[in-house]
Amino acid sequence: MSEQLPTKDVQVLLTAAIAAPSMHNTQPWRFEVEGHVIDVYLDGSRALPAEDPTGRAMRIAAGAAAFNLRCAAETLGYGAWFGLAPYPSEEPDLLARIVIEPTAARNDELADLARQIPYRHTDREPSGAVPIAENVRVALMQAAYAEGAGLTWLGADDLRIVLNLIVDTDLREIHDWHRRAERSRWVGGERSADGVPSSALGPRSTSYPAAVRDMGTRPIDRLRTERSFEEHPDLAVLSTDFDTPADQVAAGSALERVLLTATRAGVSASFLNQPLEYDDLRRTVQRLTGRPGHAHMIIRFGQSRRHQGTARRPLAEFLPEEQP
Ligand SMILES: Cc1cc2nc3c(=O)[nH]c(=O)nc-3n(C[C@H](O)[C@H](O)[C@H](O)COP(=O)(O)O)c2cc1C
Repeated sequence: MSEQLPTKDVQVLLTAAIAAPSMHNTQPWRFEVEGHVIDVYLDGSRALPAEDPTGRAMRIAAGAAAFNLRCAAETLGYGAWFGLAPYPSEEPDLLARIVIEPTAARNDELADLARQIPYRHTDREPSGAVPIAENVRVALMQAAYAEGAGLTWLGADDLRIVLNLIVDTDLREIHDWHRRAERSRWVGGERSADGVPSSALGPRSTSYPAAVRDMGTRPIDRLRTERSFEEHPDLAVLSTDFDTPADQVAAGSALERVLLTATRAGVSASFLNQPLEYDDLRRTVQRLTGRPGHAHMIIRFGQSRRHQGTARRPLAEFLPEEQP
């Protein structure tokens, strides 16, 4: 085995990694490549101290990036060994260490999911009334399980509770100018490298509360088209049994595996995470799943449409500097 991964392989691996979802598209990661080891670190300069004070969302994003990296490795003929948050006390910012090695036993599932990476986008449009097929529901649950998490589908009564939690969250946010100011730094307007552009916000809902998160903060974004959202959305909660940093990174890998599996099945996804940003409401959401654990994402699934993605920072920002 050569000592250093070829540059073109590193480019493929990191291109896949940075396509991962992250809260407000902050892309809160950086990478160190040494030989055949790629370390995924948090980039503290991209933190969201008001909305993500404990860094949970950053760790979820890093876990999603690590999963994409593992999938891309399989397309290049490598396999990947990995450790999540391997040194939480000594190196809290090191969220995943991935060892990329040639393999004769390709993981076809991960290689197949790698092909979906460019097509996965958060889709904040209303969906049709056709419920998600039973076999797809099961496939999405299996995808979460394969990465050490659980995906629980919510019933009609749970939906009412989630809508009430959304109202609760909105009321709490009214007087929280820290959150609003932070969001307006990352969301709205034209965005060519990071953040969420106005064009990705989706329409406003004609009714309130609705199973959608209106992230617009700018007056102009209040003038977006209004549409009615589905009355019975397909909602699911992604959770893990424990809540250590490694569990939160694993939740991110599970999230991305679920999202790529959904993309492959023609199913769209968006998120209603606002109640999960408050610990007491997060516990209420976990109770809806009927089992102990820690809720990380509330996902609304629907029918997919062709969709334009949000931008990413140029790959060059992440590549190791060339040795002279
Ligand atoms: C931990 C986490 C929380 C998120 N929360 C929300 C949310 O509450 N509402 C929402 O519309 N999008 C949410 N997103 C989606 C991001 O805004 C989205 O991934 C990012 O803008 C990049 O866009 P893309 O997913 O289309 O690539 C979240 C993503 C992550 C990883």
